[in-house]
Amino acid sequence: MEALESKEIMEHYYGYLCRNTKVFPEDKPLATNIETAFRISSRGCANKLPNFPIKTIDMLLEKYTKEGDKYYDYSCGWGVRMLSTLRSKRNYYGTDPNSRLVAKLEECKADYDKVNATTTFADIRPQGSEIFVPEWENQMDFIFSSPPYFALEIYHSENQSY
Ligand SMILES: C[S@@+](CC[C@H](N)C(=O)[O-])C[C@H]1O[C@@H](n2cnc3c(N)ncnc32)[C@H](O)[C@@H]1O
Repeated sequence: MEALESKEIMEHYYGYLCRNTKVFPEDKPLATNIETAFRISSRGCANKLPNFPIKTIDMLLEKYTKEGDKYYDYSCGWGVRMLSTLRSKRNYYGTDPNSRLVAKLEECKADYDKVNATTTFADIRPQGSEIFVPEWENQMDFIFSSPPYFALEIYHSENQSY
């Protein structure tokens, strides 16, 4: 309601729709596109956090890896894949250029170990996946992620791709 009543926020959303016609087709009603924009955008106006489903990564790790294996998540995101990795006793390797996010993921991992009295492994680098990490070459057992899509989610990071 706050967004709908604000001229400034609605103008922001209108501009957002116009810049992303692939996601907000021009032949769809404006109200439908606005509703979609509220649902998926991460501008902090009226967004619902689009989190990755933990059951999917649980299932993939179960199917393609075993305990102690190394999993590389090249766009860490909000931590669901990291948590699935920790609880299934795999080793987590990640990259994400959003350094504020990486600091919080490390805090989350420390909390996980404290609460569960475990010593899990996570090596997360605050950098884009395009930057080569020599010590990780030929080391990974499984690589999978949820990369950035178009310009839908704008993060707090200068070096992000979309
Ligand atoms: C779609 S979001 C992830 C959110 C998602 N719902 C999740 O948790 O899986 C993609 C992530 O990619 C990151 N990202 C952006 N540019 C990147 C790059 N060049 N290399 C690696 N990750 C990048 C963003 O910082 C963001 O955390």
